[in-house]
Amino acid sequence: MTEIQIAPSLLAADKARIGEVMGQLDDHIDVFHVDVMDGHFVPNISFGPSLVESVRPHTERPLDVHLMVERPERWVSAYREAGADWISVHAEATAHLERVVSVIRESGGRPGVALNPATSPAGLEYVLRNGDFVVVMTVNPGFGGQSFIEASYRKIAAVRRYLDDSGLDGVDIQVDGGVGAGNAGACVTAGATILVAGSAITGAPDPVAAAQALRESARLMAANS
Ligand code: DX5
Ligand code: ZN
Repeated sequence: MTEIQIAPSLLAADKARIGEVMGQLDDHIDVFHVDVMDGHFVPNISFGPSLVESVRPHTERPLDVHLMVERPERWVSAYREAGADWISVHAEATAHLERVVSVIRESGGRPGVALNPATSPAGLEYVLRNGDFVVVMTVNPGFGGQSFIEASYRKIAAVRRYLDDSGLDGVDIQVDGGVGAGNAGACVTAGATILVAGSAITGAPDPVAAAQALRESARLMAANS
């Protein structure tokens, strides 16, 4: 049975209490997801390298930095130096995807490629020999708290088939946007192995209970599939 990883997004946390929330969640999750938005690639601005640097001492878990920025190649070293372990970049945001994935890998990080809802996985087979995961965006990036796009189940399954057919069966699929205990199981059935959740975990009144509920629903589904 594939182990599912739970990745709470810090975007939905109370920004004045991020360290505290991370401390509560640490034993119950696998990786912390940090959403970086530049106001160009997406119509919102969120965290920068200094936030990554200040949350770094609060956990030994990997920090998964999701770069929703134009030309992410300009930012890889700043985020690695700040303490990012995983870095995902959008296929739509750079003309040189292979290069940025390789630079992340050479720096010792785990590279991921994120796909907006309308972006197909075509071409990833040439890029992901050096990559570890694909982020299937299940909302249009830019904001937390949006509704999960239902067509995403087919997309997750199609990306899984594509990766398997391309000999990339070791590449994980992360789902990001509108994921919660109600749809986590269906995402796992479709092929997701890393579940990002903002509103459903760090935005919940009891983040630990919410993380446990998410893991439980993912686990039930994984056990049955
Ligand atoms: C959306 C971000 C997500 C966001 C998810 O642009 O990439 O990681 O934090 O938030 P929820 O889970 O609330 O949709
Ligand atoms: Zn994200």
